[in-house]
Amino acid sequence: MDSLPLLKYLVEAGLGSRRQVVAAIKLGRVAVNGRQAESYTMPVYPQADKITFDGKPVSFHDRARIVLMLNKPLGLLTTTRDDRGRKTVLDILPPEYRGLGLYPVGRLDHDTTGLLLLTNDGSLTYRLTHPRFELGKEYLVYIEGMLKPGEKESIEKGVLLDDGMTAPATLGEINYAPPYNYSITIHEGRTRQVRRMFAHLGYTVRALKRVRMGNLRLGELAEGQFKRLSVQEIASALREHKK
Ligand code: URA
Repeated sequence: MDSLPLLKYLVEAGLGSRRQVVAAIKLGRVAVNGRQAESYTMPVYPQADKITFDGKPVSFHDRARIVLMLNKPLGLLTTTRDDRGRKTVLDILPPEYRGLGLYPVGRLDHDTTGLLLLTNDGSLTYRLTHPRFELGKEYLVYIEGMLKPGEKESIEKGVLLDDGMTAPATLGEINYAPPYNYSITIHEGRTRQVRRMFAHLGYTVRALKRVRMGNLRLGELAEGQFKRLSVQEIASALREHKK
């Protein structure tokens, strides 16, 4: 096997997202042939180099790639662990899914429910979260009252938030999933984005649920339940979605 950058190697090996791996390298937790890695772009040769994370060997091949789709309930943090001991999305998985390097793909707020993927597959995470792929994420939104004329168009065109203008979105009124009264599809993943878009027009989002990522739908999966997806299932969902 040819060389590849250390960052790519570690992400592919399932150690975490690119951001998490960069942070781990900066903290000096990664060594290559016994020497602390200083650059995440350094080339490594998976067959020849001995790469360790916190002193334990990292293997490229022996980890099964796992993708879980979870219907996240309220009140869980979307992270792998919390310094203050609060419950995370990993805490509701059965023991056989511990220690496999699973982490959430992107984020849902503590008070958001719905479709959350958990995986140990770094390249899939990249494909799902990188802005270049503009994956559509659909949310059901419950606000008190209804939007006034012109407000739907203004959200769809883009609103100016404190971190810049939002990209075009699709918004529609719904009545098939009470109490939710709107469905919005966005193609970005900024912090609390949907809540802030509505807040910009003076509406508080009372409930928010993600129901779709690309062509992957939450479907009938009950809150707090999860199911394992095949990587092929995900790949085809993403492929079909491609514009
Ligand atoms: N937008 C939000 O405001 N919150 C989420 O959890 C996801 C998208």
